Amino acid sequence: MKNLLSMADLSLEDIYGILDLAEEIKEKRKQGKVTDHLKNKSLGMLFEKASTRTRVSFEVGMSDLGGHAVYLNPNDIQIGRGESIEDTAKTLSRYLNGIVARVYSHDTLIKLAGNSIIPVINALSDKEHPCQVLADLLTIKEYKNRISNMKFVWVGDGNNVCNSLMLACAIVGMEMVVACPKGYEPDEEYVLKAKKLGGVLKITNDPLKASENADILYTDVWVSMGNEDEELQRLKDFVGFQLNEELIAVSKPDVIVMHCLPAYRGLEISAGAIDGPHSVVFDQAENRLHAQKAVLLELMVLDEGPEF
Ligand code: CP
Ligand code: NVA
Repeated sequence: MKNLLSMADLSLEDIYGILDLAEEIKEKRKQGKVTDHLKNKSLGMLFEKASTRTRVSFEVGMSDLGGHAVYLNPNDIQIGRGESIEDTAKTLSRYLNGIVARVYSHDTLIKLAGNSIIPVINALSDKEHPCQVLADLLTIKEYKNRISNMKFVWVGDGNNVCNSLMLACAIVGMEMVVACPKGYEPDEEYVLKAKKLGGVLKITNDPLKASENADILYTDVWVSMGNEDEELQRLKDFVGFQLNEELIAVSKPDVIVMHCLPAYRGLEISAGAIDGPHSVVFDQAENRLHAQKAVLLELMVLDEGPEF
């Protein structure tokens, strides 16, 4: 694994390796034990879009591991004045040990990675959000003691997070049902990729039926960053696609409710669902830190299989 641009960059073995390391890191942090595996290493953090969780968890992750993070707002560096992504990547490679990038277009990540000699990590693009999904898998493992042989139901927009989850479910062996309004189905390219990876995947427009016997219910915003000009239309089109108590009632009694956050109560999720007993959303948010530290160690520590 040189870069993490897509969940498809990871094998089943890679995923279990990252989760095992993340669990160990989490436990050690709880005990107050610190290590400096990333001492003298610097991470560039290029963010074209807003972020709370991803930005803070990467920055804190680097500092916990003895390294340093440099936040790069495109408007403050020469990209904002037209310097190419290619030249930026070549230059940053001379200073840094890794780049985390949140971008509008996934192609920007491909260009960054193609012109860097250091690892590039996708911190969310229009196509995928693999760091989120690794934290989600860690959370599922904590609550269910496994990440396979379950029914995972996505309710809402067939977006970037959904794409990464479809790939992840296919790799780890979890059945996935995506329930979205007509016209908001996930990219055909990702549906095909997931199926090629062996995924048992169903796309439907009926959230209630989809939720029957679900082990996991997951939703995300109706209006992703970059879709703001479609907001009014989307708010109409997504009526009936809220993750709420009605869906929880037809799921398994021990269903967990997930959301990558930020959440909008009353829109994609009801207050009762996100603040209720089935919700694990803040564990997901916390697990961003532990899962990403494992990714940083896997990508930035040169000796094989870093022992934490
Ligand atoms: N879930 C997530 O990526 O949150 P942020 O946009 O706050 O980073
Ligand atoms: N789908 C959302 C996720 C935010 C973390 C977006 O792209 O804005």
